[in-house]
Amino acid sequence: MIEPIVDRVLRSTRYRDVDRTLLDRLAAEELPKSRNADDAVKRVKRRLHQAVGAYRGAGAADPLAAVRATWGGDLFDPAFRAACLAVMRGHASTNERLPYIEGFFAPIWELTGGRPRAILDLGCGLGPLALPWMGLSPEATYHACEVDRRSLKVVDALLDLVGQPHAVHARDLVADGPPPIRSDVALLLKLVPLLDRQDPSAAARLLGALDARHVVISFPTSSLGGRRRGMESTYRRRVDELVAALEIGEVREASVPNELVFVVTPRG
Ligand SMILES: C[S@@+](CC[C@H](N)C(=O)[O-])C[C@H]1O[C@@H](n2cnc3c(N)ncnc32)[C@H](O)[C@@H]1O
Repeated sequence: MIEPIVDRVLRSTRYRDVDRTLLDRLAAEELPKSRNADDAVKRVKRRLHQAVGAYRGAGAADPLAAVRATWGGDLFDPAFRAACLAVMRGHASTNERLPYIEGFFAPIWELTGGRPRAILDLGCGLGPLALPWMGLSPEATYHACEVDRRSLKVVDALLDLVGQPHAVHARDLVADGPPPIRSDVALLLKLVPLLDRQDPSAAARLLGALDARHVVISFPTSSLGGRRRGMESTYRRRVDELVAALEIGEVREASVPNELVFVVTPRG
């Protein structure tokens, strides 16, 4: 019975706002390996930490207070941008990109034939708060997808505030696949290594189910602790594997500092 295990995990405030599908899936996977219920709860929490908890900060009561206070209708306003950067620091993975956020998106849009008018950001974390640096049209639609509703709530409120057309999708991308959205660009920023740890076949399934003109897949070039561990060659091999398995069309590499970024353009 997975329900009592999930109920016990949900009693801790830390994981209350993680999408239930992920909790059910992890409990179903961990229960058969567990000695007893206590062990199962511990195992599920460990997996949740790897998937979600390791990236989250403590979570402020009102994380967007400074963003709202500085919003005057201009995405270029330095005070507004500084407030967005401060919020993004609350997500360990999004935070890693901040030192080079200025130059991150232009080289990617060069390979996608311009800025997307419909973007699907999978496992987005707090990445959509980089909207001021993305240069999207005010009419572009931003679809943000995450298993962590805490991040999604912040993303939703920010996109509401600035009036960017958007939708948020709470999903376990391993069990549920992507939302059925046709997009110009689907972003899988630093997501594949995480999916590989959860289910080695999930990334290929996800890519196969996407309806996107271009898919952007990135990998960190250092670990969360900041150490470089020769990950680049491993990740290059992983992209080659995914692309070969799916018989995807063209793969090009965007020249972006401190992150390995591939733009995959499916055939036809
Ligand atoms: C390494 S972070 C990358 C965040 C963001 N894409 C970025 O680059 O700033 C991976 C994100 O995927 C989310 N995640 C983990 N497992 C997931 C799953 N099964 N389905 C959907 N999202 C998941 C985590 O909550 C986390 O925010």
